[in-house]
Amino acid sequence: KGKWPSPGRRLPFSTVSEEDLAAFQGIVPGRVITDPEELDPSNVDWLRSVRGSSRVLLRPRTSEEVSRILRHCHARNLAVTPQGGNTGMVGGSVPVFDEIILSTVLMNQVISFHGVSGVLVCQAGCVLEELSQHVEQRGFIMPLDLGAKGSCHIGGNVATNAGGLRFLRYGSLRGTVLGLEVVLADGTVLDCLTSLRKDNTGYDLKQLFIGSEGTLGVITAVSLLCPPRPLAVNVALLGCPGFAEVLQTFSTCKQVLGEILSAFEFMDAECVQLVGRHLHLACPVRESPFYVLVETSGSSARHDAEKMNSFLEQVLGSGLVTDGTMATDQKKVQVLWALRERISEALGRDGYVYKYDLSLPVERLYDLVTDLRTRLGPRAKHVVGYGHLGDGNLHLNVTAEAFSASLLGALEPYVYEWTAAQRGSVSAEHGLGFRKKDALGYSKPPVAVQLMQQLKALLDPQGILNPYKMLPGQA
Ligand code: FAD
Ligand code: MLT
Ligand code: ZN
Repeated sequence: KGKWPSPGRRLPFSTVSEEDLAAFQGIVPGRVITDPEELDPSNVDWLRSVRGSSRVLLRPRTSEEVSRILRHCHARNLAVTPQGGNTGMVGGSVPVFDEIILSTVLMNQVISFHGVSGVLVCQAGCVLEELSQHVEQRGFIMPLDLGAKGSCHIGGNVATNAGGLRFLRYGSLRGTVLGLEVVLADGTVLDCLTSLRKDNTGYDLKQLFIGSEGTLGVITAVSLLCPPRPLAVNVALLGCPGFAEVLQTFSTCKQVLGEILSAFEFMDAECVQLVGRHLHLACPVRESPFYVLVETSGSSARHDAEKMNSFLEQVLGSGLVTDGTMATDQKKVQVLWALRERISEALGRDGYVYKYDLSLPVERLYDLVTDLRTRLGPRAKHVVGYGHLGDGNLHLNVTAEAFSASLLGALEPYVYEWTAAQRGSVSAEHGLGFRKKDALGYSKPPVAVQLMQQLKALLDPQGILNPYKMLPGQA
């Protein structure tokens, strides 16, 4: 159903020779993959929106191995695409041409966990869900959670500065990541893997690599701060009659629930219909134009239940909410969360997906969805809006039977111009990768883009790390 976008022009990197393969065998013996069938899933992204043609995938286990690989690639001018769980949404994790895929799949060791401070130190290839289980057994949780938790790697999360479902409560990885170990393009190991909460000694270099999408270095280990596991969790799924009521519910929520509010997500009626149609998940709330998912996390079940009840009384009594359901036991909590978390999966089954991830002023968040429904008419199968409303983050998705250049032309640059006019961001949490790199200028001024290009040239003068990604005009 997909159509691969044109990759542009290949830059003059070397191609992998028999001698290179022999050198890689020496560095990661038995972990040099060249079988096309085995390589295929790593050449295609999760959305099936981009496809590369790499002929080599390497699976290092240690930072030292990553360093030796990059030293060789740097000397030989070979391009490299770092890859974690390959769940990225912007085509950043797969090669564009024949770049070598450097996978962190075997770098999956927890290095340490400190039970007093909650500091976790681990290798970059640890799967987020496995880390969650590790720290939950010790009375903590990961500061981030996302629908891709079963596959995504913590290194990939840091490289994309993933936001997700806990951002409202625990903030950005820019605050919770305490240290990083990174291998630079020439193989130099930068050890900033400290576990300190406070450290104002010079520039905070780790911030450069958080959200750099594999273009400045390969993240090999991460140190991050885990919050204590909440003893009481409540989830409410509520139906709202309009978007104005969604916003008022959010305001009421912040006032009444205060410090125990841990998530405020929204989705429109079409999202819930698609999750029902394609994944057979039933919605326990009466059909409504909008739904919100409110989560509280706290330390006292009674106190939190009292607050939640008072909140529900207010919103139901004033007509902001027309129907709802609540869950406290883990199974039902997961059932309610699945309706929200699995929207992207349902969209993928609906057809070709045009995906936008925007930061907008919360009052205007849904206007673009209604505007596009009129603009696109029957050319689109579905135009839906959902996302992390509490963070001002809209996921705007359009589905169609198949890719069409004319539909794309109706969406871009219109969506980007609309967003720029609101001083919004054209990528709230997914990054730019290959698919959005030319949109950077809608959210950053030319001086900032130029400085980014200078930083890239400083850290990776040959441009071998994830070329054709994130920055415009490289191909
Ligand atoms: P990959 O997809 O493998 O890579 C992503 C980028 O990071 C690429 O540019 C790659 O080159 C680079 N990279 C990967 N590992 C490294 C490394 N060790 N060093 C340097 N660069 C590296 N995102 C959100 O922000 N919030 C969400 O709520 C959210 N939900 C999602 C739900 C689903 C179902 C899916 C499929 C994706 C979702 N995402 C979400 C997208 C998100 O970006 C990824 O899931 C995740 O952060 C990427 O991790 P990954 O290991 O799969 O990285
Ligand atoms: C989400 O919040 O569900 C993710 O960011 C994935 C998506 O945008 O579909
Ligand atoms: Zn999201």
